[in-house]
Amino acid sequence: MNPIDTQHTTPSGRRNFISRTAGAAAAIALPAPFVHAQPAKLKVGMMLPATGTFASLGTAITNGFRMAVAERGGKVGGREIEYFTIDDESNPAKAPENTNRLVQRDKVDVLVGSVHSGVALGMAKIARETGTLMLIPNAGADDITGPMCASNIFRTSFSNWQPVHPLGKVMAERGHKTVVWISWKYAAGDESARSFKEGFEKTGGKVVKELGLPFPNVEFQPLLAEIASIKPDAVACFFAGAGAAKFIADYAAAGLKDKIPLYGSGFITDGILQAVQPQAQGLLTTLHYADSLPLARDKEFRTKYATQYKLQPDVYAVQGYDTGLVLAQAMESVKGDFGNKQALARAMEGMKVDSPRGTWTMSKQHNPIQDIYLRRVEGEQNKYVSVAWKALADPARGCRMA
Ligand code: PHB
Repeated sequence: MNPIDTQHTTPSGRRNFISRTAGAAAAIALPAPFVHAQPAKLKVGMMLPATGTFASLGTAITNGFRMAVAERGGKVGGREIEYFTIDDESNPAKAPENTNRLVQRDKVDVLVGSVHSGVALGMAKIARETGTLMLIPNAGADDITGPMCASNIFRTSFSNWQPVHPLGKVMAERGHKTVVWISWKYAAGDESARSFKEGFEKTGGKVVKELGLPFPNVEFQPLLAEIASIKPDAVACFFAGAGAAKFIADYAAAGLKDKIPLYGSGFITDGILQAVQPQAQGLLTTLHYADSLPLARDKEFRTKYATQYKLQPDVYAVQGYDTGLVLAQAMESVKGDFGNKQALARAMEGMKVDSPRGTWTMSKQHNPIQDIYLRRVEGEQNKYVSVAWKALADPARGCRMA
């Protein structure tokens, strides 16, 4: 960690306040010629999961974000960052209180979060009410860049509609006509289901059954038994994190792996292959990232990330990194003048982001316009197969930007 960072951990974790009073006293004690006016730090509230099924996703996002900032000497637009972190536990019920802590108590300038769509919807409501700049490094809730779209809310990841939209075409091309869909029953699962059905049924295929279980439950057996009795041509799914690893393992243990091919949005295999490598071999997925993209930018990012964190990067690390890039580029364009909100928003709208996933553009509704890749699991990697859909923009249904 950058030694100049001030790290506050709240509410459930340890607190580590570096006393501002002590800092101020030291400054006063310095002889006048040595005192340089430093621009105020930019306060960034990171609201991400540190526990539960999405914990590793939160870590990867944080790592990526900090890497982008560290590449700029720990500053964005000439201003150091002061971090405030909250473990949101992927719990939507706690989202209003957690967000208010960051906005009202800590008075953060920027909210970064979250992974879970339900949590992000709670955050976005408060961001809209208070005008706080919000950058979403994962959660795909369609409404945030749809009916709830706002001039101060930007997403650097994807909408739930996006990664599964091309999957229907991919599966139809492989001759599948009947599909069972399975996912957690909450915004991300439901919106992915809707998007998949829309894309797949356009090809003449049929979603014969939609199965679901509450987030973050992992009692898959009864649903797998139902799939075995329906005998569809294929299964498509949305799961992520530790729950995704369990689903892949259970799918194989139920004897379905070699009988009914499993597909999904790439979250099913991202960041978890070390745990379920044998059971995941050959799985085809669609996502806005892959582990072997033919891009020098990505190779450089992957090497650096692996060296720095002793971890392989995944889509979440890239999204965190891109969130740092977007904030940094916007802050550089206003020369650190965060108060110039209009110019800041203008800089982000239409911004071209030179990302490890490939260059993408921030849409007018504040969601990435990006390539979606087809990937196949080989060993511990989601190998790039092809571009499944070039420059896919979310339809942003219902967005009326103020
Ligand atoms: C979501 O809740 O929007 C979500 C969570 C995890 C993912 C993707 C989407 O990997």
